[in-house]
Amino acid sequence: MKSDKLYHDPELAQFYDLENEWSPACAFLLKLAADARSVLDIGCGTGLLAATIAADGTKRVTGADPAQPMLDIARQRQGGDQVTWVQSDAASLNLNEKFDLILLSGHAFQVFLTAQDQLALLKTIERHLAEGGKFIFDSRNPKIKEWQEWNPQESGRTIEHPDFGAVNAWNDYSFYPQQMIVEYGTYYEVIADGRICSSKSRIAFPTQEQIAALVAQAKLHVNHWFGDWQGNPYHGDAVEIIPLGSWKAGL
Ligand SMILES: C[S@@+](CC[C@H](N)C(=O)[O-])C[C@H]1O[C@@H](n2cnc3c(N)ncnc32)[C@H](O)[C@@H]1O
Repeated sequence: MKSDKLYHDPELAQFYDLENEWSPACAFLLKLAADARSVLDIGCGTGLLAATIAADGTKRVTGADPAQPMLDIARQRQGGDQVTWVQSDAASLNLNEKFDLILLSGHAFQVFLTAQDQLALLKTIERHLAEGGKFIFDSRNPKIKEWQEWNPQESGRTIEHPDFGAVNAWNDYSFYPQQMIVEYGTYYEVIADGRICSSKSRIAFPTQEQIAALVAQAKLHVNHWFGDWQGNPYHGDAVEIIPLGSWKAGL
């Protein structure tokens, strides 16, 4: 898989936490993690969720991500020393450990662009899941076409950066319907000097049916399909596709 500058460039990684705060998804996942003795966060990014899950000191928590700058932030955050951070992409992750809960948050599932990449991730989940363990991830429902809002007009925002001061931010996108891939640009313009940091990222928008087929192929089982982080069931017009599953039937 091609590495994404948005996560691999130290300057761009500095913007991640400014743009992504604690969310209803984090609250849902923190609650789900309450019963787990061990948690694996794949594509953990800057580690806010993993460090919060680990904060009570009762769980073994591992966060895995291929992007060094994201993990550097994760290590330095409050509670970061309670988590084992592993620099690895999902496909080649082999920890020789099993986990009660394996999660991907913040739509990390969508960075896996092809069915082959998605299947490799799901097989990694299957390899690391303890008997009776659970897995969960989220993917934006392609039917909602959320990317249409990622245009410069609607996405324009101002961010206060601790070192650069005020920064104008915006996105743009191209949609490739045949592959159901969206390429989106992220732009940060430092107002003080006009300097622009930018990246082009690609994410996939598989359907619920496609995800279900791959989950089954990886010998995993979905027990609940949620359609949002309030815990409502998935339906065709739901904003999110969120499978909560296990190694075998029954949670
Ligand atoms: C949208 S961010 C989500 C970060 C974090 N989970 C959150 O909720 O804030 C996607 C993350 O997936 C990571 N990633 C990209 N390719 C990956 C891969 N092949 N395996 C595992 N993680 C990957 C990126 O480095 C990035 O940190």
